[in-house]
Amino acid sequence: MLRKKILKPDTPQVLVRRGEPSDASGVIGCMQSVMDEGIYLLGDYYLMTERAERERLSSRSDLTLVADASREVVGVLTLQRGAYRKNRHTATLGIAIKKEYRGAGLGKKMITEALSWARAEGIRKVNLEVFSSNLNAIGLYKNLGFSYEGVRKGQFMINDSLVDDVLMSVWLD
Ligand SMILES: CC(C)(COP(=O)(O)OP(=O)(O)OC[C@H]1O[C@@H](n2cnc3c(N)ncnc32)[C@H](O)[C@@H]1OP(=O)(O)O)[C@@H](O)C(=O)NCCC(=O)NCCS
Repeated sequence: MLRKKILKPDTPQVLVRRGEPSDASGVIGCMQSVMDEGIYLLGDYYLMTERAERERLSSRSDLTLVADASREVVGVLTLQRGAYRKNRHTATLGIAIKKEYRGAGLGKKMITEALSWARAEGIRKVNLEVFSSNLNAIGLYKNLGFSYEGVRKGQFMINDSLVDDVLMSVWLD
């Protein structure tokens, strides 16, 4: 049984809202801090410039949610819709929450909101990829209705161990 982590009393209230162009540097900072941990995300460096990130955040066809703690971006969720007519009914989800803000229900809240948005947009299927070593994330995705769709064995090498690429998805209809 997992114990619910209570955010420290001095932790500011966290608001989940749609990301805006003015969040660009906060989004970059949040993504980079999770990348710096080295075990959850593929890249070591967030490659978008602030200008490119601002442009991405102004897109209305994709969704970026940010978790905003007194104007600090502490979580980022992206939902990128298929770019072609043949895959526009799908979207790909990515999420990263700063270490101190995990385990308090924020991930669940952000994904639930993103799935509601996707449903309202007529998206039928949401996909994601996760490292097989990331048991917390896989547990959360399963709780929210995602199921396994495939595995690419030994696709990654993390701290000298082979890790599988787990493909998961949820149908929204
Ligand atoms: C993965 C991540 C997004 C989850 O967000 P979070 O805010 O820490 O998770 P939550 O607190 O919302 O957890 C939600 C639920 O998952 C459940 N959960 C967590 N770990 C679990 C596990 N190992 N097995 C089963 N369920 C689990 C919790 O019990 C909780 O369910 P409940 O509310 O019904 O009790 C976040 O930890 C994170 O950003 N991690 C680092 C980056 C990362 O791994 N990104 C994903 C890459 S694919």
